[in-house]
Amino acid sequence: MCGIFGYIGKKEAKNILIEGLESLEYRGYDSAGVAIVEDDEIKITKRAGKVEELKKVLLKNENSGTLGIAHTRWATHGLPTENNAHPHFDSKKNVVLVHNGIIENYLELKNEFKIKTASQVDTEIIAELLSIMPEDDNLEKLKHVSKLLKGSYAIAIIFKNEPDAIYLAKKESPLMIGQDNDDIFISSDANAFKKYCKSFYILNNGDFAKITYNNIEFFNKNKKIYKKLNKFINTFSFQSNNKYIMLDEIFQTPDALRETANYFSNFKDIKSYFNNIDKIYLIGCGTAYHSCLYGKHYLNFLKVPIFTEIASEFRYGDYKITKNTLCIFISQSGETADTLACVKKCKCKTLAITNVPNSSITFACKKTILMKAGWERAVASTKAYSCQLLIFYLLRCLLLDKQPHISSLINAVKKYLATLNMETLSKNLLNYEKVMFIGRQGDFVTAKESALKLKEISYLNCIACPSGELKHGTLAIVDNKTLVFMIATQKKLMSKNLLTKDEIEARGGKCLIASCFEGYDIKLPHTQSNFLPIISILPFQLLACNVSILKGYNPDKPRNLSKSVTVE
Ligand code: M6R
Repeated sequence: MCGIFGYIGKKEAKNILIEGLESLEYRGYDSAGVAIVEDDEIKITKRAGKVEELKKVLLKNENSGTLGIAHTRWATHGLPTENNAHPHFDSKKNVVLVHNGIIENYLELKNEFKIKTASQVDTEIIAELLSIMPEDDNLEKLKHVSKLLKGSYAIAIIFKNEPDAIYLAKKESPLMIGQDNDDIFISSDANAFKKYCKSFYILNNGDFAKITYNNIEFFNKNKKIYKKLNKFINTFSFQSNNKYIMLDEIFQTPDALRETANYFSNFKDIKSYFNNIDKIYLIGCGTAYHSCLYGKHYLNFLKVPIFTEIASEFRYGDYKITKNTLCIFISQSGETADTLACVKKCKCKTLAITNVPNSSITFACKKTILMKAGWERAVASTKAYSCQLLIFYLLRCLLLDKQPHISSLINAVKKYLATLNMETLSKNLLNYEKVMFIGRQGDFVTAKESALKLKEISYLNCIACPSGELKHGTLAIVDNKTLVFMIATQKKLMSKNLLTKDEIEARGGKCLIASCFEGYDIKLPHTQSNFLPIISILPFQLLACNVSILKGYNPDKPRNLSKSVTVE
């Protein structure tokens, strides 16, 4: 949530900063801003709205500065206005900074230090505190202020009295530094400077950095420290064919599955990690939580209890975790704050399943299985979800000593996507006021994920319900303005499903069935049951994307959301 980018080098900063922000827009796009030093003077440009708005003004401005910091915001405190946009100066204009995270005690600090701020954001308190700290040395000021802050932060700072340096501090929110000869880049996500650098540094909690032209120094609270460089792990890069990233990412699913399956051979030793465990917790948020629900289906042959948990709930609950408990954390980004907090709480066997190497959750877990879905940039997760399910299928095969049928799966997905057309259905959906997704057993997981996908990018009022639960309450909202999608992939449950359809239609609702059996409304391929979770979501991902576009929205950047939820 929120993206930080910084540059110091020989080139003009403004283009590089804008390009960096464009790559980070998946982290938030409520407002954006930059601070660039030109002739020892710090100049700020900010705009409410997407980075595009900032770009329009910034690129027209004469500014040849070669050092700057930039930010794209996902509002937590205060409206997404220009005034609340980062960077923020202190009132005396001694310090300017950008911040990702949340300062939980900013109101207490405002009272304690009698500080008045000009915006509604928590960030401004950091600038004010830095400005009033008594130390002469800027690094010492920063260390002092960091001791006062509670919460999470990645901060990039320019001090007026030291305009050729950028200072960084990090706790919980990610921050990385890349260098290519004379050019030094700072970012919340190393992917944003990957095209310039071969390797990069990662700041850990409690680290500080001072970056000047051609020089990077690291410190912790006591002393100067040395850090190792991390190499980029090759991620799969895909061609873009569509106007919307989400559409591209749906159609990249077969390649993402192939890459992930091939790479899984690196993680075969994980098998022994499942020895002597007393239970398993599968933990994640949103779509990743839905993967956990399917994960339980894939692993249900194991003789230990398996529990699925929403990370924001699990982090505050009481659980009987022993040293033999295995907690599996699913996270596309590897940065989700709620999931990360759960990892820290689990003093047991921990396994991360993520799509981003070197992410916080991969560092925090004892073991990792890395997916190779390629960079997922659309806020709505699609190909990463498919790859998470694939990992569970691969784990199932590994633990059962069975050969996975990867080519059949990929061919089935490819063939299905090539014929899938959801256009008419998407247009028809717009005639309804309420949309519902229902299913039984595993199909209910697809129903939940389909409802999440549709609501997050089309803002439609839609819910998911287990088919058999309808008659226990939810049926009350079914009327002739309700469209119900039923996912039905199990032959043995078909007669029950048809009864549910009758119950819906008797109340005036419209019920469309997605099934792998003949004669229903949305055709799913007839394939082995282990593949169906991965395939049955595809029509609904496409439906959600089409509906969003038909309603005039950009599915890649839905309102109120961010790709990487690094705050609580
Ligand atoms: O990066 P993570 O997988 O940890 O993200 C978890 C959720 O925030 C994420 O899946 C979210 O629900 C997606 N926007 C859904 O499309």
